[in-house]
Amino acid sequence: MTGLPRFYVTTPIYYVNDVPHIGHMYTTLACDVIARFKRLDGWNVHFLTGTDEHGQKVQKAAAAAGIDPQQFTDRVSANFRELAAMMKFSNDDFIRTTEERHKRACAALWQRLVERDQIYLETYGGWYAVRDEAFYAESELATDGQGGRLAPTGAPVEWVEEPSYFFRLSAWSERLLRFYEANPDFILPTSRRNEVISFVEGGLQDLSISRTTFDWGIPVPGDPAHVMYVWLDALTNYLTASGFPDIEGEDFRAWWPADLHMVGKDILRFHAVYWPAFLMAAELMPPRRVFAHGWWTNEGQKISKSLGNVIDPQDLVERYGLDAVRYFMLREVPFGQDGDFSHRAMVGRINGDLANDFGNLAQRVLSMIGRYCDGRIPVPAGFTEQDRALLDAASGVLLDRMRTLLDRQVLHSVLIEVWEVIADANRYVARQEPWTLRKTDTERMQTVLFVATETIRRLATLTQPFMPDACARMLDQLSVPADRRGFATILADDVLVPGTPLPAPVGVFPRFVDQDPSA
Ligand code: MSP
Repeated sequence: MTGLPRFYVTTPIYYVNDVPHIGHMYTTLACDVIARFKRLDGWNVHFLTGTDEHGQKVQKAAAAAGIDPQQFTDRVSANFRELAAMMKFSNDDFIRTTEERHKRACAALWQRLVERDQIYLETYGGWYAVRDEAFYAESELATDGQGGRLAPTGAPVEWVEEPSYFFRLSAWSERLLRFYEANPDFILPTSRRNEVISFVEGGLQDLSISRTTFDWGIPVPGDPAHVMYVWLDALTNYLTASGFPDIEGEDFRAWWPADLHMVGKDILRFHAVYWPAFLMAAELMPPRRVFAHGWWTNEGQKISKSLGNVIDPQDLVERYGLDAVRYFMLREVPFGQDGDFSHRAMVGRINGDLANDFGNLAQRVLSMIGRYCDGRIPVPAGFTEQDRALLDAASGVLLDRMRTLLDRQVLHSVLIEVWEVIADANRYVARQEPWTLRKTDTERMQTVLFVATETIRRLATLTQPFMPDACARMLDQLSVPADRRGFATILADDVLVPGTPLPAPVGVFPRFVDQDPSA
């Protein structure tokens, strides 16, 4: 284990009853950017994703596919691994809840709860929605007009009566409220934090945490007629992947508590209420942060299989390219709010932010170096005030601002900061007119092109977490060695070596020309 500071970031684990779509891709993409940023910034990162494979919903999907649940989950879990590879996600681990290590961790957590008198057995009757894998109170339900009842999420519910183990959640309201109070940034964004606090202030009821009417789950220790509630099983994955139950072990001591659980707003309650309560009850540390992001719609409509408007990330990447998709998803929508996917907005970002702003800056400067400087990194001769102003804009101050924003997961603003400097750099080139200086003052022209190139180097270095391939290609064109691409080099002035021959420039951000404008 190295002495670097550590950062443990997790995605939710995905239900395997579905094929991956942009909603799933979005949560993991956000974590990937955060993980890459932290690594480039000198942190030792553990980035976890995986699949949630138990529960009634998955058992039903397997039955519908006519195969046994294990075979079914093996098949569908692989789709999520393929998505991760296609998106170049840099996860360090991929957990499946059907793995032995996870069954062990769940049994151990259950045992700790039993030992601390947090679990009791009772007969339970309640309204259960398989689609949400959640119980609802009578008062929360609506009718579907045909004698059926619906959960607030619109999912049909059924009356379930069975013996069940309960977790003494009601005993934890006060402790949770004190915990939120003492850790104001535990739940972000703040609007979501307020929702969670009002929910807990409304009073918590004990939670049913085992089922007996189906068997696709992790058996309750000592009472195998019960399987654990799928959310208790699923949440425990974060512990499993940190080495639990070996709590004296090096891994657990290094990684727990998790620094960040990234989730969609729909599953915040499980992460910000149940999960810290389970952990406190088991005398384990709660995570440091839960961030709830918003939901995507497609051209204004809710994304759903029944509407047939599910967006396949693979199709997007084939059409627009990986870096453009990664950039768009995190720039278009203020992170934390809901957003809408549209072809128009995507093309607007590609042709505006990427091709015109960043792409053009690099393309223009590099081609002038090709034509006016014999294809070699220009040799600067003393900086003016304007030169220094641009170099300062792309300096450690920018990095500090990016860090502050990233540490609160304000991902779109991280990009906005970078694009402000891209605009500065474009203005600088336009004002300095190196094409005119070429005829009047070649020494000054070399300085101007050097300043612009150094700025591009820093911007490409800082943007790597969002667009790893495009930035790598830019840094390759500047002959920046592979081991000089970390954020520490933002403060270094010896990365670009004047006089070094550069490869012939190639465009990194092509314009998107629509082949089929009706699509
Ligand atoms: N299995 C649970 C999580 C257990 S974590 C201990 C689950 N899985 S899920 O596959 O249904 O959803 C996973 C993530 O995808 C959630 O964060 C959810 O918010 C996200 N999205 C699913 N559809 C989405 C959109 N349309 N837009 C944005 N994200 C959405 O819940």
